[in-house]
Amino acid sequence: MPAWRIVVGSDDAGFDYKEIIKRDLEGNDAVVSVADVGVDADGHTNYPTIATTAAEMVARGEADRAILICGTGLGVAVAANKVRGIRAVTAHDSFSVERSVLSNNAQVLCMGQRVVGIEQARRNVREWLTYVFDEASASNDKVQEICAYEAQ
Ligand code: RB5
Repeated sequence: MPAWRIVVGSDDAGFDYKEIIKRDLEGNDAVVSVADVGVDADGHTNYPTIATTAAEMVARGEADRAILICGTGLGVAVAANKVRGIRAVTAHDSFSVERSVLSNNAQVLCMGQRVVGIEQARRNVREWLTYVFDEASASNDKVQEICAYEAQ
């Protein structure tokens, strides 16, 4: 059983989902720690600051993965992907969530509170925790191409 260290974050447009997902993570046996980089209930930090703060924690090895929520799940993904070594995706359906890990080795899952229903979002997170990238898979060559480009 994996022992995930997860960091969660949202802007104010994603706060409600972030709080619900945080509670789910805290009750999940596969999760050993949940760090919350905000916002808090009356916070108004813009999504780029939240997303890059969480992504930097993953890049530094302080967390294994991140969940980021904004209105659409788009801005947080764009921002998180600016952090070296981070592969962040926006995914709202089970198949994309699965492939984000098994094909793309993404460490950051982004969702939009204005886009997906809360029960699908919660399911996406539960399923996401069960997937582990296989470095011996054919997908690894492609992920390594991304890493090589980034290292240029
Ligand atoms: C609100 O600022 C909204 O633009 C934001 O939550 C997000 O959807 C951006 O991608």
